[in-house]
Amino acid sequence: MPPVHVARARSTSSAAAKNLESLLTIRDKSAAMNFDFDTPISRRESGSIKYDRRPELDPYWVADMDFASPPAILTALHQRVDHGIFGYAQPHQGLNDAIADYLRDRRNAQVPQDHIVHLGGLVPALSLAARAFCNSGDAVMTCTPVYPPFINVHHDAKVALIKVDHVWENEQWVFDWQAMTHAVTPETKVFLLCNPQNPLGRVFSSEEIIQLATFCETHDLVLVSDEIHCDLIYDEPTTPHYSALNLPAELAKRTITLLSPSKTWNIAGLGYAFAVIPDDTIRRKFSATRGHTLSEITALSYFAAEAAYRHGEPWRIELMLYLRANRDALVEFITTRCPGLSVVAGEATYLAWIDARQLGVKNPALHFEKKAGLFLSDGNNFGWPGWIRFNFGCSRARMLEGLEKIAAAL
Ligand SMILES: Cc1ncc(COP(=O)(O)O)c(C=O)c1O
Repeated sequence: MPPVHVARARSTSSAAAKNLESLLTIRDKSAAMNFDFDTPISRRESGSIKYDRRPELDPYWVADMDFASPPAILTALHQRVDHGIFGYAQPHQGLNDAIADYLRDRRNAQVPQDHIVHLGGLVPALSLAARAFCNSGDAVMTCTPVYPPFINVHHDAKVALIKVDHVWENEQWVFDWQAMTHAVTPETKVFLLCNPQNPLGRVFSSEEIIQLATFCETHDLVLVSDEIHCDLIYDEPTTPHYSALNLPAELAKRTITLLSPSKTWNIAGLGYAFAVIPDDTIRRKFSATRGHTLSEITALSYFAAEAAYRHGEPWRIELMLYLRANRDALVEFITTRCPGLSVVAGEATYLAWIDARQLGVKNPALHFEKKAGLFLSDGNNFGWPGWIRFNFGCSRARMLEGLEKIAAAL
């Protein structure tokens, strides 16, 4: 075993989470940050999708951040690399313990280890769920706008897609229960939920998630809850994350909850996620559908995940402070400097969902590519043409540079 078994001491995440509110206030006042989110690190020619796919453009698209991961993760990776051997890996005890503690302390869930299925990413799990629980003629359901794979994995399963738009009500994006009830069919077998919602930035309330799970029970759907952004919530006391793991047992038994440290600690490229599947039959079917289609998960990703859950909380708290200031500056900028664009402050994620329909151009992402050399996410890929998604997981200076380019291209 490599010398990576950093202290097994109980994580401080529980206490840190409870103190989040006061920490936010204290740190806001003192502005004393222990971690550096301002110094730019060049990512060009580092084999980055974000920067190297279209090197001629300035990228604010795919959801990874321009920050180095926390020192604790880098140390764990260095230590594992120094071991020198990279044969086939399996989840080690330290990771299993760290996940159990994380689920208990941050997600308020006691999860038996055999309910966990380790995965190389969340997207394969969305596809697996569609393939496992749908037969020819069936359908997958989701609400739009949403992260593009949600509206594409049905192709893998060769089944239909039913999509229903979220609606703006009482100053927030919500489910359109009436339209959903109207749209669901007896052939619908799976509901794909994104909570926190990418790109809307909503953190759904416990009432909404219980209502959705009840909807799934009524229509006999497996509820797949993608919660990859759940540690990127700005104000946890006001908009706490209600995980599908927290549902009453009779509703939880039809759920697959997908979690990962990848977005929060910026290790998405290492490829690690896990599913929690309480029901034996659903879990067996899900796992059996993998067949030989998924490759082994890497040792490096396992050790990075352990370090993230075990030691990542102080960094995460400062990250959220930094991103919150970015979010507020972005909303202010778009509102005051960008006629034709509008945005609401998201409750979670470092992704801003910008309404560009008043601009009067057919494809706003293409407009800003042509006029400003920007690489933005096109709302059309999320099911809503006329919108753009801007990734502000970068230094404030870099974010403002991108926003200035947007303003100049209006
Ligand atoms: C909601 C959501 N799910 C899944 C992913 C990607 O997950 P993975 O890289 O583990 O496949 C993303 C990435 O942006 C996302 O926003």
